[in-house]
Amino acid sequence: MKVTVIGAGNVGATAAECVARKDMVHEVVMVDIQDGMPQGKALDMMESAPIHGFDTTITGTNDYGPTEGSDVCIITAGLPRKPGMSRDDLLAKNASIVGDVTTQFATGSPDAKLIIVSNPLDVMTYVAFEESGFDPNHVMGMAGVLDTARYRAFLAMELDVSVRDIQALLMGGHGDTMVPLPRYTTVGGIPITELLDDDTIEGIVERTKGGGGEIVNLMGTSAWYAPGAAAAEMAEAIIKDNGRVLPAAAYCDGAYDVNDMFIGVPVKLGADGVEEIIEVDLNDEEQALMQTSADHVQDNLDNLARLKKEGAIG
Ligand code: NAI
Ligand code: 2OP
Repeated sequence: MKVTVIGAGNVGATAAECVARKDMVHEVVMVDIQDGMPQGKALDMMESAPIHGFDTTITGTNDYGPTEGSDVCIITAGLPRKPGMSRDDLLAKNASIVGDVTTQFATGSPDAKLIIVSNPLDVMTYVAFEESGFDPNHVMGMAGVLDTARYRAFLAMELDVSVRDIQALLMGGHGDTMVPLPRYTTVGGIPITELLDDDTIEGIVERTKGGGGEIVNLMGTSAWYAPGAAAAEMAEAIIKDNGRVLPAAAYCDGAYDVNDMFIGVPVKLGADGVEEIIEVDLNDEEQALMQTSADHVQDNLDNLARLKKEGAIG
């Protein structure tokens, strides 16, 4: 088994390290355009193997030969946002990068499952889908695992309980319109609506929606520990094929009344990628929030089409 990570920056290197530390694949290959950087990070990680106790080989490269025959590819190449920027401000630049790296990767690994991380996430996943020519269920975006982890972490902090006992569902696009669902959030099987008052839940929901921005404002660039770990968890679900149910940006064409776009929904992930989109009942308010989020993703897809027409995307 081989996992490729494209973009060996903050998120990519963290994802590569998390995959290696799970000791579940023979090889991790990191690709980046920066000369020496992926090679240096790979060597550094290999030197940590005796301490962590993993046998995965990590290679760094500037070309795609070593990625051939990959089973999973995590795409993190592109610009991260800076204070004052939204994820959407990255659209034109990152669409060129994600399109280019996907094309270069896909020919050598036609059966790989693609996990996109670059922002704006839902649209970059569509770009990778189009450029790869892969089946839609072999392409997915990572956002829900991260956003749900933030939501679960904030709930655990508020309730002073173990994060392990918090199960939560969050849907929609990876942006301020994401849709955390308190009705489907439990602590040890107890709905959070039994444990917290509405105002406290609303505060946590709002903090989750702005979770990425909170870190950008603190650090001057976007997060990587939780995003890298989240991408590695999705890779693990595909590699181990153990029936994990996780939120992911999956291709919806009818599900949740959303058409022809990638957006966050609960899915069963396995060896065949997105094996099932699980449709839960949403009440009118939740479905309206999901629709608002889908409208936002559609606006970005329309912007992408316009930029392509104007020749602004290479
Ligand atoms: P970074 O700047 O640390 O790393 C990006 C890497 O991509 C750099 O090393 C750069 O050299 C490389 N790169 C650029 N063009 C390339 C190309 N053509 N081929 C190969 N490598 C190329 O940025 P970071 O923090 O790792 O973020 C990466 C992306 O992930 C950003 O777009 C960011 O917004 C996004 N992100 C998405 C999250 C999500 O939940 N989906 C969470 C966190 C970040
Ligand atoms: C995050 O949510 C910026 O998408 C990135 O941290």
